[in-house]
Amino acid sequence: MTKIHAAITAVGGYVPEYVLSNKILETMVDTNDEWILTRTGISERRILKEPGKGTSDMAVEAIKDLLKKRDIDPLEIDCVICGTVTPDMVFPATSNLITSKLGMKNAFGFDISAACSGFLYSLTMGTSLIESGRYKKVIVVGADKMSAIVDYTDRTTCIIFGDGAGAVLLEATEENVGVMDSLLKSDGNGSQFLHMKAGGSVKPSSHETVDAKEHYVYQEGQSVFKFAVKGMADVSYELMERNGLTADDIAWLVPHQANLRIIDATANRMGLSKEKVMINIQKFGNTTAATLPLCLWEWEKSLNKGDNIILAAFGGGFTWGATWIKWAYDSK
Ligand code: UT7
Repeated sequence: MTKIHAAITAVGGYVPEYVLSNKILETMVDTNDEWILTRTGISERRILKEPGKGTSDMAVEAIKDLLKKRDIDPLEIDCVICGTVTPDMVFPATSNLITSKLGMKNAFGFDISAACSGFLYSLTMGTSLIESGRYKKVIVVGADKMSAIVDYTDRTTCIIFGDGAGAVLLEATEENVGVMDSLLKSDGNGSQFLHMKAGGSVKPSSHETVDAKEHYVYQEGQSVFKFAVKGMADVSYELMERNGLTADDIAWLVPHQANLRIIDATANRMGLSKEKVMINIQKFGNTTAATLPLCLWEWEKSLNKGDNIILAAFGGGFTWGATWIKWAYDSK
């Protein structure tokens, strides 16, 4: 029997209009453009400012973009998987809100909480749904409104994060293209270095937790940095090795955009030159689950059918992983 592959057949993206530049951050916390640029590679990030708007609203815009490109009726969609750590609400799932806002009456949906690896985890789950033969059109969206959980008086975290959403459509194909392999990892011991202290079942929200600023991202940057450099580089190399891929075989690396130094270390380990690495961290910062699809969205027109692309991520959990895709279409 011919194997069914899950191919990405369309990409959509959305970033809010408001630009929070390093210069503006200089007026908010004790930092400077030069420090942020040299330590992270970030110049500016986008922030969703409109009151009453959340992660689902950005995801909806990204998905609309994708549906419009392919002229697809929302009723054709079987499932929406949303990778996010900034859901609109604790429950219901953001994917439920997305499907209803888009009139996807035939779709079910669920969220995946894997922080910066959220898109890779969701893509792997979506791939399995397609490969099973049971579902024909699955949308995978990575979306995060990080500005909702960032403390803009903490200079060590507020300079990194931004808001955005990116989405892909997965469809079945019998051609030898699509998601070829995926290697996902997690280690809960890493939670001590990157987490949100309150608002969960261990420490529900209270006046005290709000006063103690425990509803914001807590990150021990240097420790996360060390694990991220090793984790993202090692898993990408392992994925290449187990599939017999060399640097020459790879057209693009799509790395999680957390820090330019982590991206460089991963590309070096894989033996890739800079021209093969998608980098937009300078414009959008770290949009958590949205970084990878936002890269695909920006580079879509440069991609050719058959291109070997490695996606790699590392984030809170810890969670990390890499996915090998053979691009399924020419979109020039
Ligand atoms: O995507 C999820 C996973 N997250 C990551 O991958 C993030 C990984 N970590 C990082 O990217 C980096 O650790 C940061 C960008 C967060 C921080 O960079 P760093 O090079 O690790 O800086 P540091 O925390 O070691 O701080 C170095 C110095 C300190 O001053 P002293 O103690 O040497 O005097 C900090 O207080 O820089 C100071 N500092 C700043 N100075 C100006 C920290 N933040 C700032 C700032 N502006 N915004």
